[in-house]
Amino acid sequence: MKIKSADFVMSNSSVESCPSDPIPEYAFIGRSNVGKSSLINMLTERKSLAKTSGRPGKTQLINHFRINDNWFLVDLPGYGYARVSKKEKKTFQKYITEYFLKRRQLISAFVLIDIRHDPQPIDLQFMEWLGENSIPFGIIFTKADKLKPNAINRQVEGYLKTMTDGAWEEAPVHFVTSSLKATGRDEILEYIGQINSDFFSHQG
Ligand code: GTP
Ligand code: MG
Repeated sequence: MKIKSADFVMSNSSVESCPSDPIPEYAFIGRSNVGKSSLINMLTERKSLAKTSGRPGKTQLINHFRINDNWFLVDLPGYGYARVSKKEKKTFQKYITEYFLKRRQLISAFVLIDIRHDPQPIDLQFMEWLGENSIPFGIIFTKADKLKPNAINRQVEGYLKTMTDGAWEEAPVHFVTSSLKATGRDEILEYIGQINSDFFSHQG
């Protein structure tokens, strides 16, 4: 899929105020600093469409971007950021939880995992929660430029094995990416493009 346009639509903290266009939507979620906003910029080839930062906790709201005028990419705040207060964490959990449970346009979440890290309970638990609520998701491994090819394979295989040894019967669809080198860009856009074309052909 070619990206012809990528426009920021709005930021908010309530699923009720998200844009109402009945078009397919894909949301990026994962730990703070894992590279969600960077990935949006990489996919859209817009350097600063989504705000990024070396410090965790940059993205604070639900951010909608309209791509090619017929689908949404959503940038979400990260979880697992130790420096926010308990109250902030609760508020965050509430609106992110509601976003996932109530957003009808959502076709799939993508859970981002730093490829250098071994499986962490917070990510595994989040994916289990998605599963329990029948919310489809894929995994996007980020920052692949930080590892050599052998290590990349080892990390990915190890991660998926933890999942299939645990709560999952099958490994989810997954992608290896680097926002620095645009690794994985074609694969993700191809995947989304295929789902979108099924979506629009069923709409007639
Ligand atoms: P929050 O909004 O705080 O939850 O973070 P985020 O997940 O949106 O991360 P963001 O895209 O802001 O990136 C965090 C840091 O990781 C920045 O310093 C990025 O430059 C860096 N980063 C993101 N993706 C990559 C990548 O593929 N490779 C490398 N080497 N660095 C990356
Ligand atoms: Mg961000």
